[in-house]
Amino acid sequence: MAAGNRTQWSSGFGFVLAAVGSAVGLGNIWKFPYMTHSNGGGLFVLVYLLAVFIVAFPIVIAEMSLGRSARLNAMGTFKKLSKNSPFWKGLGLLCIFSSMIIFSYYSVVAGWTIDYFIESITGSLHKLSANTTESHFIGFLGSPWKQVGFHSFFMFITAFIVLRGTSGIEKAVKIMMPALGIMIFIIASISIYNYGISDTWNFLFNFNLAQLNSSSVLEAVGQAFFSLSLGLGCILVYGSYLPKDVSLVKSGIWIVVFDTLIAIMACFMMYPIIFGTNMEIKQSATILFTSLTVQFNQLPGGAFISAIFYLLVAFAALTSTISLLEPVVSFVHETFDISRKKATIWCSVTIWFIGIGSALANGASLFFTKLAVMDRLDSLTANWTLPIGGMLIAIFTGWFFSKEKRLAEFNENERKYFVPVWTFVIKFLSPILVCVVICYKLGLFH
Ligand code: TRP
Repeated sequence: MAAGNRTQWSSGFGFVLAAVGSAVGLGNIWKFPYMTHSNGGGLFVLVYLLAVFIVAFPIVIAEMSLGRSARLNAMGTFKKLSKNSPFWKGLGLLCIFSSMIIFSYYSVVAGWTIDYFIESITGSLHKLSANTTESHFIGFLGSPWKQVGFHSFFMFITAFIVLRGTSGIEKAVKIMMPALGIMIFIIASISIYNYGISDTWNFLFNFNLAQLNSSSVLEAVGQAFFSLSLGLGCILVYGSYLPKDVSLVKSGIWIVVFDTLIAIMACFMMYPIIFGTNMEIKQSATILFTSLTVQFNQLPGGAFISAIFYLLVAFAALTSTISLLEPVVSFVHETFDISRKKATIWCSVTIWFIGIGSALANGASLFFTKLAVMDRLDSLTANWTLPIGGMLIAIFTGWFFSKEKRLAEFNENERKYFVPVWTFVIKFLSPILVCVVICYKLGLFH
């Protein structure tokens, strides 16, 4: 996907796959299960689902329609459609900032999956039991060389692909994404078969309203944005390569449904093991790297299955990191008139450097661990800049994107039934809901 050169996806299906590739990643497989775990399940899941369908889905459509109409990167789009307003160009900068920060720590976690892939092959994971998986993982987090090394490796592969254009990705995504989905489905079925479903089911779908607090509501809304790659113009850039005849509504529905299904299935893959073995979890954030190890060790050919699994997760992370680097590179390349190659190198080195703080923040360096760099950057972006970015994108689409241009992105039928409801939602409902959640969290209502 070269910047500036307006190539198009080969079809609506190709676009949906690429967008699903961007959306499905560590957010679904690592973050959603651990956040749900640490927020007590039930109500968090409900708030998440409401946020996805009421707030996020309309913004998915908004980003796609802006991108396809302007056919430019995020900054270019806001600049062109707002006729150079400094405020909306500021939104473009916020988008770039979010991409850089998210990519910086995302690459560290993606690096963990590479290590677990290697450790599956060498057999060192295979020696662990339900009681030792967590300490093994914490030991790994404490090794500065490994943390920085795998982070660097992941940055390098992403940069290499973005540098050469991502046309190959569309092909790879066609095979790897379905493979990952099937794999998660199979592992979830085995977990349920071995450890039962009822505890997990109750944890996910039973709730009482006493669980409600402002932090988990904000986290659920933030996670909806994070998981769907919203709020920093990533879907917008992908939409800018979309052929005119593809239905935005249908594509949007596919993206949201796939992304949500994978997140829920990931919980069914890990929770039965946690509940079934009474595993002690000190830090929810580690469960992707602890609970499954126990499972793999009991299966025939477990080391092999484990290797394939972590490789597929690494691949899902890669299709997401590409979509995080592309907006930054295309912005730098188009704005400062430097070659795409140079832009990719400079952006990657800068982001790599920022990421070192996160790589060392989980035990490898006392200084960074005390500062909790990774958690803070994650919370800053996922809980604040993405929802604020998304809210502003909704406002922009509802109020500043001309009606004719907006309507031109929809077909006859959609204009009749979908557009009036959607317009109302992005003009009023989505922005107001996000704003209320943010004000509530800021304590403005107390
Ligand atoms: N959605 C991806 C995930 O769930 C992460 C991601 C990729 C992202 N591109 C993004 C998050 C853009 C926010 C914005 O893992």
